[in-house]
Amino acid sequence: MAAEITFLGHAGLLVSDGSHTVAIDPFLTGNPVAVHKPDDIRCQAIALTHGHPDHLGDSVAIAKANDATVVGAFELTEYFGEQGVKTEPMNPGGQVDFDFGFIALTQAFHSNSYEGRYMGMPCGVVLSLGGVTLYHCGDTALFGDMKLIGELYRPDIACVPIGDRFTMGPRLGTTAAELIQPKVAIPVHYKTWPLLAQSADGFRPTGIEVKEMEPGETWQYG
Ligand code: NI
Ligand code: MN
Repeated sequence: MAAEITFLGHAGLLVSDGSHTVAIDPFLTGNPVAVHKPDDIRCQAIALTHGHPDHLGDSVAIAKANDATVVGAFELTEYFGEQGVKTEPMNPGGQVDFDFGFIALTQAFHSNSYEGRYMGMPCGVVLSLGGVTLYHCGDTALFGDMKLIGELYRPDIACVPIGDRFTMGPRLGTTAAELIQPKVAIPVHYKTWPLLAQSADGFRPTGIEVKEMEPGETWQYG
């Protein structure tokens, strides 16, 4: 049981077991903190929490360059299908099995559009790869069923947005992590722009290891 997590900056990640890599919300072009370029990304699948540009990001180019499958909410995958990209359409509550493990979508309380187009439900992504389970909350408000999601999937790692304004801030993010009960919580969606919280100092869930990652940093879990 091991996975290599690379933080792409903002809310983007690469999760790899050595032979399979899944990108989550790969927003690189126009991301002021990103270290990677779209051409640097090698992956077999791209899981998207929603279609806002700071999440959808470079997904079309990365999917085409890698012949990768885009996994996400139904309307969002319709958009990618129109771009000639392979897709796995889903919606919250559903799970799809892959040769590396599975991806499930959860609810998230947010909005979801791209260039004025409705992109379906905003979601959280549960990714199981290399025997490691990671719950990326997506962009979301706090909700009590995070406790249920934690009980259902028992994530090793949770990626919790803490930038405030568009998502939870550090205080509500702390409660979210305490509801989810992962072994490790990674704060995301902060510090990218002046509009967002600039520090994870207030993100201190009791009894849960907090892993603050720098853009471009890779970390081995397990
Ligand atoms: Ni968003
Ligand atoms: Mn966002």
